[in-house]
Amino acid sequence: MNNNLVFQATSVSSDNRAKTKGQKPFVLWLTGLSGAGKTTVANAIELALVARGMHTYMIDGDNVRMGLCRDLGFSDADREENIRRVAEVSRLFVDAGLIVITSFISPFERDRALARGTIGEDVFIEVYIDAPLTECERRDPKGLYGKARQGLIKKFTGIDSAYEAPLTPDIHLNTFENDVSTVVFQVMAYLNERGLA
Ligand code: ADX
Repeated sequence: MNNNLVFQATSVSSDNRAKTKGQKPFVLWLTGLSGAGKTTVANAIELALVARGMHTYMIDGDNVRMGLCRDLGFSDADREENIRRVAEVSRLFVDAGLIVITSFISPFERDRALARGTIGEDVFIEVYIDAPLTECERRDPKGLYGKARQGLIKKFTGIDSAYEAPLTPDIHLNTFENDVSTVVFQVMAYLNERGLA
């Protein structure tokens, strides 16, 4: 980082921005294997929050990789940089007073811990979207597991790149045994309990 930088305070504070929206900002950080249902669940959560009049934004892995992170691939270092950027963007959106739902594999515990540190312990909520690899492969919604098994895609998470499941997620959602409405209910119950929704 350049040494000749001075952090500039803004006249409108984070609190002001959140108050004008009548909400407490936070980040629901969804992590899980490709095909586990992150995007589906993120969409359903966002719909439920907007239905309650909340101001939200959803940041999705595939979409970000077509824009902000189009220069990155799937090496461990590139995934780390991908998650670092998404954490920084999420931090800005929280500063803007928004409720953020991110949906990234974010396979490495260390990178998720860094994201938690960047965004802030009190507003970072780790949500493990849990479905067994065999089920994700069976679903294979994008046909990518098939390609990875044929060796056409290298370093595919769960096949030849690791997924480190969260050991102590804030919310653990099993999308193999439960339907979408059930897991959204679990999220809303958690948020209610914490006074966030
Ligand atoms: S992360 O590991 O850096 O968090 P991210 O969530 O942004 O990954 O992107 C994952 C998406 O990229 C997958 O849902 C899939 O559609 C696509 N993809 C392409 N190549 C790979 C790969 N080698 N491993 C995992 N996902 C891949």
